Amino acid sequence: MNSYSIALLPGDGIGPEVMREAEKVLAVIQRKFDLNLTLNQFDVGGAAIDKHGHALPEDTLKGCEQADAILFGSIGGPKWDSLPLDQRPERAALLKLRSHFDLFSNLRPAKIYPGLEALSPLRADIAASGFDVMVVRELTSGIYFGQPKGMAGEGEEEYAFDTMRYSRREIRRIAKIAFEAARLRGKKVTSVDKANVLVCSRLWREITEEVAKDYADVELEHIYIDNATMQLLRYPNQFDVMLCSNLFGDIISDECAMITGSMGLLPSASINAEGFGMYEPAGGSAPDIAGKGIANPIAQILSAAMLLRYSLGENSAAEAIEKAVQQALNDGYVTAELLSAERKNEAKTTAQVGDYIAAKLEELA
Ligand code: NAD
Ligand code: IPM
Ligand code: MN
Repeated sequence: MNSYSIALLPGDGIGPEVMREAEKVLAVIQRKFDLNLTLNQFDVGGAAIDKHGHALPEDTLKGCEQADAILFGSIGGPKWDSLPLDQRPERAALLKLRSHFDLFSNLRPAKIYPGLEALSPLRADIAASGFDVMVVRELTSGIYFGQPKGMAGEGEEEYAFDTMRYSRREIRRIAKIAFEAARLRGKKVTSVDKANVLVCSRLWREITEEVAKDYADVELEHIYIDNATMQLLRYPNQFDVMLCSNLFGDIISDECAMITGSMGLLPSASINAEGFGMYEPAGGSAPDIAGKGIANPIAQILSAAMLLRYSLGENSAAEAIEKAVQQALNDGYVTAELLSAERKNEAKTTAQVGDYIAAKLEELA
C-alpha cells in the first residue's frame, strides 16, 4: 500500500466549502485504490490572520514542508483587502508559498468536454469547434516578484512602480515545460507575449525560439497578449499549449476557464523542479457566493486529481476522478452558475455535487 501525506490548506471564502468535497472524493480514492492518505489541515490566508495574526503561520509552512504535496483552497476577501500589500493573504501566503517552494511551473488545463458545449458562453458554432488548452504559466518571477517595487515622489508626482524581470534561466525552464507538455498533446506551443513593447517579451521570444530547436516535432508560434485574448473567443480550437509569463498567464487562464463554462471548473498545478507541488483551483475565494453552499467544487476536486497524477504518480486514481467529474457534468448534476436562467431551479448544492461525484467514483473505480 502506498502511503502519502497531503497538507490541506482550505483558506477563505468558498475555500473550506469546496475543500470538504475534495476530501470526500479522496476518501473514496483511498479505499478504492488501496492508498494510505494522511490529510493534515492547516490555517492559511485571512482565516490565519484572524486566528494567528499572520497569513502563513510557521506551523502551516512546516506542515507543507513535511507533506508530499499541498492541496490549497483559496484565500483573500474584502475583510483583508485594506491590509498593506505584503500582509495581505495573496502576497503573504499564496505568493510566499509559490516562491518558498520554487513552484515555477503552473499548469492550468481547460477544455470544453465533448457533449458539454452548451455550458460554454461562446456562440454554439464556435463552442462546437472544440477547445482543449493547457495554459503553462510561469509562476515565480515576472512582474509579480520583480524588485524594486514600491512608491516614491510626492504630491501629484508621487508614483508607484513594479518591476517586470525575467532571466534567461527562468524563461528557459518554463518554455521547456511547455514543449514537453505539447509533445504529449497537440504538438503546438503558442507563446503569449507583448514583444512589440516589452523588453522582457523580446527575451522571452528569443529563448522560446532557442528551446524550440530541441523540439523539432512541436510547432512554435508567437502571439501578442491582446490578440490572444480575442483569438480565444474567435477560434479557441487553434490553441494547444499556451506558454505565458506570470501576469499574462493569470489573465489568459481566467478567460480559458470561462470559455469552458465557469471559473469553478478550472484546476491548477504549481510544481517545482523536484516534482513537489501545490494544487489549487485557478479561481479565488468568490466572496460573492461564499457561505451559500452554491460554489462549484469541481475545480477543487480536479486539483486533487492533478495532485495524484503529478506529485504522487497515481495516474489511474487521477483518471477515475476525472471520469466521475465528467459523469456529473454529463448528467447535468451541476451548481447554479453552469445553468441558464430557465434551469436555475435544477441547480445542485456544493455538497450534492461532491456527493454525486464521490458516488460515481464508487461505481466507476
Ligand atoms: P474569484 O475567482 O474569487 O471570483 C470571480 C468570479 O468567479 C465570481 O463571480 C465568483 O463567484 C466566480 N467563481 C469563482 N470560483 C467559483 C466556483 N468554484 N463556483 C462558482 N463560481 C465561482 O475572483 P475575485 O472575485 O477577483 O477575487 C476574490 C478574492 O479571491 C480576492 O481576494 C482575490 O485576491 C482572491 N483570489 C484568490 C485566489 C487563490 O486563492 N488562488 C485566486 C484568485 C483570486
Ligand atoms: C491566481 C490568483 C493569484 C495570482 C492571486 C490571488 C495572487 O489570481 O492564482 O490566478 O494572481 O496568481
Ligand atoms: Mn488569477
